Amino acid sequence: MTATTREFYAHDVEARLRREAAEIVARYPDARSALLPLLHLVQSEDGYVSPRGIALCADILELTRAEVSAVATFYTQYKRHPNGEYTVGVCTNALCAVMGGDIIWDRLCQHLGIGHDETTADGKITLEQVECNAACDYAPVIMVNWEFFDNQTPASAVDLVDTITAGEPVRPTRGAETVATFKEISHLLAGFEDGRADEGVGAGEATLLGLRIARENGWTSPRPADRVAAERAEDRPGEEVTEPTADVAGAETSGTAPVGDESSSAERPAGHAPTKTDEAAGEAEPERPDRAARTDEEKS
Ligand code: FES
Repeated sequence: MTATTREFYAHDVEARLRREAAEIVARYPDARSALLPLLHLVQSEDGYVSPRGIALCADILELTRAEVSAVATFYTQYKRHPNGEYTVGVCTNALCAVMGGDIIWDRLCQHLGIGHDETTADGKITLEQVECNAACDYAPVIMVNWEFFDNQTPASAVDLVDTITAGEPVRPTRGAETVATFKEISHLLAGFEDGRADEGVGAGEATLLGLRIARENGWTSPRPADRVAAERAEDRPGEEVTEPTADVAGAETSGTAPVGDESSSAERPAGHAPTKTDEAAGEAEPERPDRAARTDEEKS
């Protein structure tokens, strides 16, 4: 079957897909909101967003096939032609690139004889050049079906794809203990648990290092009240800044003006000069022009 030929699902397969689709749709207030997981469901059956899968989604959600296709072509996780059993995504974004990601990418392209979004003849591997795997602290990073393989080298990357090609299991650095197939992962992304969420390591040492150093040194993140005091000190250099009150801290989270805010009328939008009476009544503070001005300056 090619990407342009419309075929139909066998009766039992379509019945199962419709049953699972109904489960997914029931999770949303509007049926059309279920389109993204339904596209994953189609991929879990066909290995890509097939013409028959598009037709099924359109029928279930009462959309046109053009509307379904428009969404499917927007996201890179949806494949428009049959995907390999394993998607090997090599990050070549800035940090991974300087740490060797570009060399890994070139080596794998050469070793497998394929380029971006191409699949090996045996259907095992689809290669993807990825813009950040969101694991920069482990650069250079490869993902196999969205499982992490950290701190790679050209040699370890070649070993990884050779193991996959040989049909042997590979073990991610973090997360699940083995890598599920593209179709299995697609079923998970459609919203059906595979019971493996608690396998393996979650956050690794590189991710936790900053937290450990902060704890050793007694560092904490600034409180909202500290930030308010710092902004006041910045706005009025030379003025004595007193410790903000609990009201100030509360104002940051409630969106109301703090009691004792002494912003001048020039700092407020024309026609609105809140008094302490206004503030005591809980009137919402308009956006502070001094902050907006700073943002504009930063942009220019
Ligand atoms: S730059 Fe490679 S994971 Fe972020």
